[in-house]
Amino acid sequence: MARKIVFIHGSPRPKGNTRAAAGAAMRAATATGAAVAEIDACRLDFRAPGCIGCHKCQARPDYACAMEDGLAKAVAGLPEHDVIVMCTPVYWMSWTAQIKMLLDRMYSLCKFTPDGISSPLRGRTLALLGVGGGPVEDNLDLLERQWRVPAELLEARFDSCLIPFASYEPGVLAQDAAAMAKAADFGRRLAAGS
Ligand SMILES: Cc1cc2nc3c(=O)[nH]c(=O)nc-3n(C[C@H](O)[C@H](O)[C@H](O)COP(=O)(O)O)c2cc1C
Repeated sequence: MARKIVFIHGSPRPKGNTRAAAGAAMRAATATGAAVAEIDACRLDFRAPGCIGCHKCQARPDYACAMEDGLAKAVAGLPEHDVIVMCTPVYWMSWTAQIKMLLDRMYSLCKFTPDGISSPLRGRTLALLGVGGGPVEDNLDLLERQWRVPAELLEARFDSCLIPFASYEPGVLAQDAAAMAKAADFGRRLAAGS
């Protein structure tokens, strides 16, 4: 059966470098037989930016955020996918604020019990496509750790594609054949589940 992959776009620049790399990964994943979906985290409506810590999600039987807005709806649909890919430029050695808003709402996909964490994300693949202007060290590696460690905690699989030294000019990465090939390999890998 085709693997379902959702790419979550976190760059505020729709013609930027991260979107160019994500495009290469999505095309390769589709060509490998995956069913690809997209969420633009920068264009979701919200009543509050991120999580407000109300903990209502912990009291309800389903895995959903209590706030009725675009962010909550997008997050509630994530477990329908086999692979969830955060696509983000490095901002201050981390995610963009737009990705972080969605990520914090993913608290609603976990139930924290005395016996541990239960989550529909268990067994899924949590993946990262990170694009930075600087080197991997002290930039992309810090970002990667912030997704790899939670993936381990949730007993999810993890994969990443880190692209350093990307231009600050939007979209220039599309001309970088090696970077595009690396992103395409990542897309194929996610589609194959390897
Ligand atoms: C607010 C801001 C913060 C940034 N912080 C970092 C950083 O900490 N490390 C890094 O390697 N690049 C940093 N960059 C560079 C971007 O990651 C880089 O230009 C990337 O290609 C932008 O991707 P985009 O074209 O998809 O928006 C920063 C850029 C901006 C605008």
